[in-house]
Amino acid sequence: MNDLPDRLRELLLDAGYTIDGVRERLGEVAATALSREETVPALRATRDGDLLGTLIRLWWLGVPVDAPAGLPVADLAAAGLVTAEAGRIASTVHLQPWETGGYVVSDRKVRPGDPALRKDHVVGAGGASANLAQLASRRPVERALDLGTGCGVQVLHLADRAREIVATDVNPRALELARLSWALSGIKGVDARQGSLFDPVADDRFDLIVSNPPFVISPGGRFTYRESGFEADGFCRDLVRLAPRFLAPAGTCQLLANWLHVDGEDWRDRVGGWLTGTGCDGWVVQRDVQDPAEYVELWLRDAAEQGTSRYRELYDDWLGWFASMNVTGVGFGWITMHDSGSLDPVVRVEEFGQRVELPVGGYVDGVLDSIARAHRLADAELPGARLALADGVLEERIGPPGAEDPARIILRQTRGLRRTAQVGTVEAALAGVCDGEYPLDPLLAAIAELTGENPDDLRAKALEALRPLIAEGFFNISTG
Ligand SMILES: C[S@@+](CC[C@H](N)C(=O)[O-])C[C@H]1O[C@@H](n2cnc3c(N)ncnc32)[C@H](O)[C@@H]1O
Repeated sequence: MNDLPDRLRELLLDAGYTIDGVRERLGEVAATALSREETVPALRATRDGDLLGTLIRLWWLGVPVDAPAGLPVADLAAAGLVTAEAGRIASTVHLQPWETGGYVVSDRKVRPGDPALRKDHVVGAGGASANLAQLASRRPVERALDLGTGCGVQVLHLADRAREIVATDVNPRALELARLSWALSGIKGVDARQGSLFDPVADDRFDLIVSNPPFVISPGGRFTYRESGFEADGFCRDLVRLAPRFLAPAGTCQLLANWLHVDGEDWRDRVGGWLTGTGCDGWVVQRDVQDPAEYVELWLRDAAEQGTSRYRELYDDWLGWFASMNVTGVGFGWITMHDSGSLDPVVRVEEFGQRVELPVGGYVDGVLDSIARAHRLADAELPGARLALADGVLEERIGPPGAEDPARIILRQTRGLRRTAQVGTVEAALAGVCDGEYPLDPLLAAIAELTGENPDDLRAKALEALRPLIAEGFFNISTG
């Protein structure tokens, strides 16, 4: 019985129930429709009764099937994963392959027309899970914490870079299903602990903390998988404020969050204020913002509540609650904190919607480092520093055809966060010559001589313009 996960994993792999196998079996149209939670094309593509099609129907599409030969039905039923009757079986869970090569087990997906969700519903891995996994630092670490593990998906990603993993959740059902996800994915030794926020790890320190928390901002806290019951965006705020106590020196905490936009308050001050006083360097990125109505619709749809008798009432209550707090919108984004040990921490809060190079986790430590270096660079250090243009930065000159000088010069990153910056001719000239060999001062003197500009003026202007370009990763810098 205890070897059930191993046997099941072997059967799933042999049948080709993998990300690639499912995509190939369904074809482009049905796979894309399924990513929109539309199941009809996938049902049509799996009606032949072959093993892979049957497994897709049973575990992913959630429809009853004839028990296929070889599936240990009695053991699965004893483990509570299926119900069986007269040769037909129905799954009690959603079990799908994941991009790491493992499997995630959660409650069955809720689709329009399904019965109301139970309060302790365990949500499956989805877009937000993938976003956090892409954001999380790839640096190998000794100890990692996944706070609010749910179906356990973040652990699948952490397993190849953390020696010890602790996973917590307030919902005991989540830990039950997460353990199954890990067993089916061949991951051993995860320390799963039940409890709220940091309660289960009160005496621990971690090199990396990740969390896709219950960030949805709603009046009731109806569903544990997405709502904490804390007031408004208070859960994410408390997570940020408490995290530093649980970080080992040089540790990093990364989370997804939602935050309110309130009339008369700059959202940057609100979220920046969460990080102020934590002692950590911080980087907050708003990736999207929705107006209150869009936000309410999104989450009512998420729980398949559109078209139900309570839809209007829930919608109205939620909007009324937002209005009572003068909410004008809700921001979605990423928060990264790094305990650098500096007495002069820096917090950068920004907004961008452009597509970035994935995984962000491959270069996120460098992003934090650039922000911190630019902030802590003394004015006196910059002239002697050596700058090198970052890999993949291109220059674009825009202006009327035939004009001698461009109207605008843009530096564009083709890698990483793919930022752009409008620059002046001096920074553009530096971008052309900075390869880390010479200190800045003689380069600026040479540019002043070429352009005929007063060297002191040019130097002062250039040094001011360079600091943000260093913070944004256009130039790498070495001092001393
Ligand atoms: C959005 S799900 C994230 C699941 C998974 N980590 C992922 O990335 O997909 C949020 C999880 O936080 C858990 N949770 C809710 N309230 C919590 C609390 N007060 N403390 C810890 N976890 C909580 C929920 O049970 C749920 O599993």
